[in-house]
Amino acid sequence: TNPSLLILPGDGIGPEVMAEVRKIIDWFGAKRDLAFDVSEGLVGGAAYDAHGTPLTDETMEQAQQADAVLLGAVGGPKYDDLDFSVKPERGLLRLRKEMDLYSNLRPAQCFDALADFSSLKKDVVAGLDIMIVRELTSGIYFGEPRGIIEEGNERVGINTQRYTESEIDRVARSAFELAMRRDKKLCSMEKANVMESGILWRDVVTEVAKDYPEVELSHMYADNGAMQLVRAPKQFDVIVTDNLFGDILSDAAAMLTGSLGMLPSASLGAPMANGRPKALYEPVHGSAPDIAGQGKANPIACILSFSMALRYSFDQGAEADRLEAAVEKVLAEGGRTADLLGEEGVTPLSTSGMGDAVIAALDAS
Ligand code: NAI
Ligand code: MG
Repeated sequence: TNPSLLILPGDGIGPEVMAEVRKIIDWFGAKRDLAFDVSEGLVGGAAYDAHGTPLTDETMEQAQQADAVLLGAVGGPKYDDLDFSVKPERGLLRLRKEMDLYSNLRPAQCFDALADFSSLKKDVVAGLDIMIVRELTSGIYFGEPRGIIEEGNERVGINTQRYTESEIDRVARSAFELAMRRDKKLCSMEKANVMESGILWRDVVTEVAKDYPEVELSHMYADNGAMQLVRAPKQFDVIVTDNLFGDILSDAAAMLTGSLGMLPSASLGAPMANGRPKALYEPVHGSAPDIAGQGKANPIACILSFSMALRYSFDQGAEADRLEAAVEKVLAEGGRTADLLGEEGVTPLSTSGMGDAVIAALDAS
């Protein structure tokens, strides 16, 4: 039987970029004999419109059963005034929580053709290919106690950074596994100088390293890490860090490489019975209501998210390489959606024009 893929296009440009990914999935089925059992469902505002909830129990169950889930984006102004309990984001949060996706992979990769696009000097980013692994289900965003309390005659805002050994252990293992498939170099970032959770983090990561003797492990304080990422990002291969630092560091690293329309992500959980990790793949960008429905959206972030699925869920690293090379070729030959245009007057490709260009490059591969 074919591996199963649940597609949740969502809102705004989500369905537009996903339509291009569908073309690419079909191409792999027809030309590379790599077929998937694809099913499609609703998430976010689209699910709310149809069912009054941003994610139905049926779709949640489908996601739990699927070999991988590919999501577009959720949200939009139409839903801004909804009650928090049914906001589009809640659909995505429920998926992440119930699938227990604790390891968030955010690559920062600079395609040579876009090196000029970075806010940094070309030689600092050209050829950059790093991966930030962010712990996604624990830490200060979830720790108790939390809240705003009265103390004396003023209010106090409280959040708690809390990590168990097992939470650190499992995300560290996923980062080491990743390092083994890449350049066997892992840098762990925390603030062990001022945080108890940082001391424990460093301790547990060092312990896990014993199971991966081939991986060269280093430790760095996260504030220095931020500086190093901007100063000389190519010194890194895989970075592993907690939820809060990972949120900030991965957003900063993302901007090393240019447009939001280029950035994929994966969120992985524990292995299922078939050995594949629970997995949700999605572009980093949102539903982009400002350009939705105009055929302007760049589908590459979503296409590269599918490429990550090929690599991390379906063990098709060579086919993922093929797809990424096709994207690289289109960019090298000057193919640009509007978000990637410089000042000069090149005619931009539409969303489907970019999808077709990638297909043409795949055909030529
Ligand atoms: P956004 O990522 O949707 O858009 C930010 C800017 O980047 C916009 O100018 C947009 O046109 C541009 N952009 C984003 N993706 C693009 C693409 N593929 N091609 C070309 N240009 C692109 O973030 P924003 O505006 O803060 O949020 C809009 C809506 O999306 C909100 O409802 C927000 O809650 C939701 N959102 C959803 C996310 C998700 O589903 N994971 C993540 C972030 C925001
Ligand atoms: Mg963020």
